[in-house]
Amino acid sequence: MLEHIDSFFSLLEAGKEITMEVQSTIFRGKYAVEVLVVDPINYRLRISMPMVEGKVILIPVGTILSLSIEESSIEPIELKLIERIGGSARSLVLGPLEDLKSRREEYLSSKMKIFSVSSGKGGVGKTTFAVNIAIALAKKGFKVCILDGDLGTANVDVVLNLGSRYNLSHVIGGECSILDVLVEGPCGICVLPGGSGLQELTELDEEDYFRLVSQFRKLDEYLDFLIVDTSSGLFKSVTNFIIAARNGVIVTTPEPHAITDAYALIKVLANYGTELDLKIVVNRVKDEKEALDVSKKIRFAAKHFLQLDVDFAGFIVEDDNVWRSVRKQEAFVLSAPNCLASRCIEVIAAKICGEPPEEIAESRLGFAGFFERIKNVFATR
Ligand SMILES: Nc1ncnc2c1ncn2[C@@H]1O[C@H](COP(=O)(O)OP(=O)(O)OP(=O)(O)O)[C@@H](O)[C@H]1O
Ligand SMILES: [Mg+2]
Repeated sequence: MLEHIDSFFSLLEAGKEITMEVQSTIFRGKYAVEVLVVDPINYRLRISMPMVEGKVILIPVGTILSLSIEESSIEPIELKLIERIGGSARSLVLGPLEDLKSRREEYLSSKMKIFSVSSGKGGVGKTTFAVNIAIALAKKGFKVCILDGDLGTANVDVVLNLGSRYNLSHVIGGECSILDVLVEGPCGICVLPGGSGLQELTELDEEDYFRLVSQFRKLDEYLDFLIVDTSSGLFKSVTNFIIAARNGVIVTTPEPHAITDAYALIKVLANYGTELDLKIVVNRVKDEKEALDVSKKIRFAAKHFLQLDVDFAGFIVEDDNVWRSVRKQEAFVLSAPNCLASRCIEVIAAKICGEPPEEIAESRLGFAGFFERIKNVFATR
């Protein structure tokens, strides 16, 4: 059932014409509609309003609709009308039926929380933040893993001076187990080098894919946090990780270019629905006021122009201890635990793990779910 609906969604794209059939007690009919936005992760679809002879057909919210693709042999799927949007953006929003939603949530749920660390502009401090926040969380007793998701230059292992022989591509190739690839870092954190394996994720056949997921399930039960350090920019390889992780930390500095690029990234992400939980971290600030000013600008623009709520997760001050520890290939939260930058990281870590338990439970999605979503988002674009 889930495979069928996934296959159906993989055939959809904006601009495609599909057939929508209504068979309720008060409404019956078959209409050609245009696909406007596809969200394969949450099984949501925005389509044009059905029209007959220039008149809009007003189908009640809650109606179950059957969708089919004319030129394809794939069986129709059923979705529910969850919202009717009026005005210039006139359209229908369809979502999954209840039982499908709960089964999928059950399938995806697990104890681990995943978040990506990304930025619009390069060099703003993503890797430094990912490594130090991982260690700060580990110091609180959480089990943390960093997935080095930088498709260009993998560098978490360099920052921490860890020699890694293997990466994800060796697991995909069946050459070793996931446990052989993990490199242990300070305070018991582990690093999973992605390497060329990240690109291969997009080309897996079913058998390799299920082998990889079963490998990841091994880790799922041991970990509380998976932090994905991505490359910078608006590339799909970056946005796909953020979408799959669902919780995205966007790092920026107060520099105007970095702010504009962070907003550009948020704008691209806004197209993929409001299910994403995005938070801003402002790095290299002189004080809290400067960070709040930067965050206010980005949050205002996101709310005003994109109707998107973006949270402020915290800030890190410009601190010489940061580059000094980078040079020594150490984490500053360990080599200078009392410096200002370390204290800023502590505040953010407390915020990340201090959420009410229900919120954590909702946003915790296991490795298996994460990789399933990675595969979906990479495959459908
Ligand atoms: N708060 C800070 N204070 C002082 N220097 C900092 C701070 N944060 C980062 N830096 C400096 O910025 C450099 C770049 O940081 P980092 O490599 O983490 O950026 P990045 O966003 O991961 O870069 P890339 O886009 O290349 O992956 C670090 O080597 C460090 O010297
Ligand atoms: Mg980096």
